[in-house]
Amino acid sequence: MLIGREDECARIERLLDDARRGASGALVVHGEAGIGKTALLRHAVDRAGSMTIAIATGIEAEAELEYSALMEVCRPLLEHASELPEHQAAALQGALGLGPAVERDRFGVGAATLGLLAAAAEERPLLVAVDDAQWIDTASADAPGLMRAGATPPRAPARR
Ligand SMILES: Nc1ncnc2c1ncn2[C@@H]1O[C@H](COP(=O)(O)OP(=O)(O)O)[C@@H](O)[C@H]1O
Ligand SMILES: [Mg+2]
Repeated sequence: MLIGREDECARIERLLDDARRGASGALVVHGEAGIGKTALLRHAVDRAGSMTIAIATGIEAEAELEYSALMEVCRPLLEHASELPEHQAAALQGALGLGPAVERDRFGVGAATLGLLAAAAEERPLLVAVDDAQWIDTASADAPGLMRAGATPPRAPARR
């Protein structure tokens, strides 16, 4: 039970409802440590019901580990890799260490990420939840769709 977070929870509910109706959106929660950001994120995941859920958590010690966060997000969506153009699938699988290493292709990886998210969302509404985004490795943070939220001005500051 989240105490005193009615407004924030209502905001999350709206975002999820919008997603179920086919409208995409992003919500950034920021605030000092311990204020309840992770709790709100878990609440969003709990309320996502039958949506497809992809979660990544930024970990300070893994901030240098290229594409570690992207791997987390893509893992539950990889069944859709076959829907991507071949070179994009190869770029993504290479970057994630799931296929032969390919020449570094950030654009291809980005396009593939976007394609994967779109393909998953086509099938069912999709929630991508990123916790502690400040520690996401920079390669993953470059991938569109994954960290677009991080570049959006904060809309729901957590206050106590
Ligand atoms: N609104 C709330 N009501 C009750 N407990 C809360 C609330 N927000 C956070 N907590 C609890 O406070 C602690 C810190 O919250 P957490 O979400 O981990 O903070 P943050 O991610 O911002 O560092 C956790 O034990 C969490 O369950
Ligand atoms: Mg936290």
